[in-house]
Amino acid sequence: MYRTGIVKLTSNARFSTICLHAGQEPDPSTGAIITPIYQTSTYVQEELGRHKGFEYGRTQNPTRLALERNLAAIEGGKAAFAFASGMAAIGAIATLLQAGDHVIVTDNVYGGTFRLFERVFTRYRLTFSYVDTSRLEEVERAMTGSTRMLFVETPSNPILTLTDLRQAAELAHRNNLRLVVDNTFASPYLQRPIECGADIVTHSTTKYLNGHSDSVGGVTIAMRDDDVEWLRFVQNAEGAILSPFESWLVLRGTKTLPLRMQRHNTNGMAVAQFLASHPKVRHVYYPGLPSHPQHELAKRQMLGFGGMVSFELGSLEAARRVLNSVRLLSLAESLGGVETLISHPATMTHASVPAQRRSALGITDGLVRISVGIEDIEDLKEDLAQALDRI
Ligand SMILES: Cc1ncc(COP(=O)(O)O)c(C=O)c1O
Repeated sequence: MYRTGIVKLTSNARFSTICLHAGQEPDPSTGAIITPIYQTSTYVQEELGRHKGFEYGRTQNPTRLALERNLAAIEGGKAAFAFASGMAAIGAIATLLQAGDHVIVTDNVYGGTFRLFERVFTRYRLTFSYVDTSRLEEVERAMTGSTRMLFVETPSNPILTLTDLRQAAELAHRNNLRLVVDNTFASPYLQRPIECGADIVTHSTTKYLNGHSDSVGGVTIAMRDDDVEWLRFVQNAEGAILSPFESWLVLRGTKTLPLRMQRHNTNGMAVAQFLASHPKVRHVYYPGLPSHPQHELAKRQMLGFGGMVSFELGSLEAARRVLNSVRLLSLAESLGGVETLISHPATMTHASVPAQRRSALGITDGLVRISVGIEDIEDLKEDLAQALDRI
């Protein structure tokens, strides 16, 4: 007989310990320390109406459940629900709304989120206003009698603008709105929106939570009991669940989240400083630089400044040269993996955002984004230096 529940977390367990252990107990049948991949579509019932809490693979899966408990603990929420992608997780959040409801959204939100809201959910009579949520007076001005939700991405993609989460939560709750935060860019190691008052946190687990560029997934973590109940229902009703294997990969990823993020922080800062001092670079967007307009807020709200850095080269031609000249950095969409990626937001991640809107947001043709990985920083700087020399 193996004892289960051998690893017990105390109520004051610290973040790294929670990442490693929350939601996971040695497997009851073998004692395996790692939660197995329960690759099954159904579960045999002992007798009619008697089972072990698992009935059907879409509804419940032990590997997914372990991940959901792990992520709920990491974000400090009541429950988490894992979906097949970050977009599916955001889609589930939108089902909390009803026809006629209005949502205020950060203006330079991820392009796919903008596309989902504008091209899909407007068909169901939901309306969306995109405002600079770093200026809460603009949020207040955009409110109507139908506003039900404030959807914030901070730091935003790719310009890295911050929203003050405590103030946003206070404003949202004063007006009976839910505050939803897409925490993908920061990761819960750097920023904990629920502690700042958010009602719902969402992630593309594809990014820092999994961290190894080998799975696509999403999660929604809720605090309010009615939201927990609805999201559990809708996860099963719509069925866009995360598979057992993908759940297992993300669960493996969160064990090293603190270590990876520490390195992303130091490498991100070093790349930002290197670019800021380079004569060919016109501007660097990084919350860790004193030149960032919200550097003070970043210091208050975040535990570090992360691995996302954007910079302006002034023209498409200059951006093209750098993007085509890097050798160690990989030209690819996505972010948050251990390897460094470089991308061109205007034609890649934000291609679905109309050109006029892009330029209003500062997503110019000369803007380049780097997801700084955990390689040796000298190798990264050398590669960037030789690519910038080509301009
Ligand atoms: C901030 C943010 N939210 C959500 C998503 C969507 O996630 P996924 O690609 O896993 O559907 C992304 C993807 O890049 C993102 O950057």
